[in-house]
Order: sequence, then C-alpha cells, then structure tokens
Amino acid sequence: MEKVEIYDTTLRDGEQSPGCSLNEEEKVQVAQQLEHLHVDVIEAGFPAASPEDFKAVQKIAKIVKKSTVTGLARSIKSDIDTAWEALKETENPRIHIFIATSPIHMADKLKKSPEEVLKMAVESVSYAHKCFPQIEFSCEDASRSDYPFMSRVIEGAIKAGASVINLPDTVGYCSPEEYSGMFRYVQEHVPGIEKVRLSCHCHNDLGMAAANTLASIETGVRQVECTINGVGERAGNAALEEIAVALHVRKDHYKMMTQLKMNEIAKTSRMISRFMNSPIAATKPVVGANAFAHEAGIHQDGVLKNPQTYEIISPALIGLDSGKLVLGKHSGRHALRNKATEMGIHLTDEQVNQSFHVFKALADQKKVVTDQDLRILFAPFQRAA
Ligand code: KIV
Ligand code: ZN
Repeated sequence: MEKVEIYDTTLRDGEQSPGCSLNEEEKVQVAQQLEHLHVDVIEAGFPAASPEDFKAVQKIAKIVKKSTVTGLARSIKSDIDTAWEALKETENPRIHIFIATSPIHMADKLKKSPEEVLKMAVESVSYAHKCFPQIEFSCEDASRSDYPFMSRVIEGAIKAGASVINLPDTVGYCSPEEYSGMFRYVQEHVPGIEKVRLSCHCHNDLGMAAANTLASIETGVRQVECTINGVGERAGNAALEEIAVALHVRKDHYKMMTQLKMNEIAKTSRMISRFMNSPIAATKPVVGANAFAHEAGIHQDGVLKNPQTYEIISPALIGLDSGKLVLGKHSGRHALRNKATEMGIHLTDEQVNQSFHVFKALADQKKVVTDQDLRILFAPFQRAA
C-alpha cells in the first residue's frame, strides 16, 4: 500500500480559530503529542506573525526530532529570514511559502497584477532555496484561481526549488469532483509536476473538507494537511481523525496507509479540546462523545450480539476502551439486562419485565437514565438476591 503523509497544521491554521490561541508551553506539549501520534510534518506556526509565535516555533524546532517541523511565510524575504531563524536548529527544516493566486485575492487583497504575483512566487522560493533543504509552496485560494495562470506559478515555483506543491481550497468552496479535477488539471499541464509531492489543504465551510481531501488522494495527492478536531478559521480545516480513520477503515477502497499511531487519536483530540477550550460536538465523527454510543433498542441489541452491526470503527482503534450503551427511551430489555449485569446485578426474566416498565416511564421523563437512577430501580432485586 502507498503511504500518504500527514501534515498537521493545528498549531498554525488551527490556532487561527477564534478564541483558540495557545501559549508557548501548550504549543510545545501539543507538538510533542503530535510527534507521539507519528504525524509526518508539524506546522508549528507562522514565525513572522508575532514574537510569541516565533519563540514557540523555535522551541518546537529544537525539541521535536522525528517529525519534520515547518513554519509559514509569505512570499517576502523578511518572512523567510524570520522563518529560517526560528527553524534552523531543527533536523530537517521545511519552509511553507504561500501567495494567493485567485483573481479576487490578487486584485483586492494583495493589490498586485498576476505577473507581479508570479515574480514574487518565483523569487521567494529561489531565495528560500539558499538555506532551506525543503520548500513547500502554496497557491492560496487555488480552487478559485485561473488554472492556466496558476499552472505557470506552480511551474516557476518548482523550477526555483519547491519540492511540495500545496493547493488549498482556502474558503471551502469546492465539491469533491472540482477539487480532484484541479489536481488532475495541474498533473496534465505543469511540466515537472511529477517530481514534486502534491498536497491538499481543505477548509470546511460547506462541510466537505474530509470528502474533498479523500477525493484528492484518489488523484495522486500524497500529503494531507489537516488539524486535530478540525479546528481552524471559520468552519475549520479537514479533521485529521476523520481522514486517518476513513483511510484505515476503508483501506479496501483507498488502498493507502498513514504512519499514524491510531490509538493516540482520542488522547490528542481531548488535549486540543482542553487547551483550546473548544468543546467537541457530541456527534462529531470519530471523537464526539456519541460517536460510539447507542441508544435505540434495535441498535443496542445488535451491538450486544456483534459490535460490528452498528460500529464500523472500533473504539479501541483510536485508543478508547469500548463503546457505550446509553439507556434512554428508545432502549430495550436486552440493554437493560446487560446494564444490570455490568453493575453486578443478575436479573431474572420476571425482574427484567418488572423493572422495564418503571425504566420506560422514567426514560420518558428524562433524556438519559443514569447509573444512579438504575441503582435505585434495581435495589429491590438486589435485596431479594
Ligand atoms: O487555507 C489556506 O489557503 C492556507 C494557506 C496559508 C496554506 O492556510
Ligand atoms: Zn488554511
């Protein structure tokens, strides 16, 4: 199976999520955990953005040994110099240079003509090539760019020394077909593209970040940029855990592997949620509190007989003990008896029937019946036994 590299940008794009900034110590701890998770590349920050970010990137660059450490820079010399100062002590420094190539960004944000943007892209990559052994180049807002023009920018960046070309769906605008079509276009039109690693970077504004990422992998993209819990600007970035688990569970389809230590996913997710003070929605795929919870009687019955009836992901895969059966108004007798057994109370059929009526009445009034409720419900049977 071919390998897809995982590029984690929780500490850069993820940290751009409103109210989610981390202090230096937290950033270092997150970087260490990402290394435990075996991500290939850690984007540690944007060194020119602030003295705090510079210091955090510098510290991470010194401490992290196994993952490649990178930092973001605009296509300007001073950003590249600052990034070098922050990253020069890491084992294998990579710089991530970007410039926008879409008409709206060039005209209204950068106030530059396409030819000026092309020149800036090529000059900045050549300049960085003097010190950085690895250069990643991104066409910001690639998915809304004019593809023939963007292809010229990519060709220039490759000739100047870029070895990774990243094409972001910066505003989360593409459908999966459009996003993978963009990669097919550059593969067919950019001379030298076969020599570089193609990278995807998807935002989730229309809820398609994971789908777009997976579609691009099917066209030959071999680096995936993502964040833990999908944190990031606006609706966030593609979520690492969703992509990693999709590739794992559907390896029959994607035929790709990552080097991630999958059973570190839940721990990493909880850490980011805690440090960023950003709760995870209960229904969030893979890491939400309800991702492995079952309430409906038919589902509970199936899961008790064989978890795979309703669980395509095993909780153990991401480092959790087991799925949980939640007792509520949709639950059945099988789950109630099972819960009693877990609590050390063995009910006869008649006792199950008796307690089931009371349980249903209680469940109708409450959202979830707790262990405390059940202890009271089962107390008479415990005494009898
Ligand atoms: O979304 C984006 O375009 C980015 C770039 C800076 C890579 O985050
Ligand atoms: Zn982004």
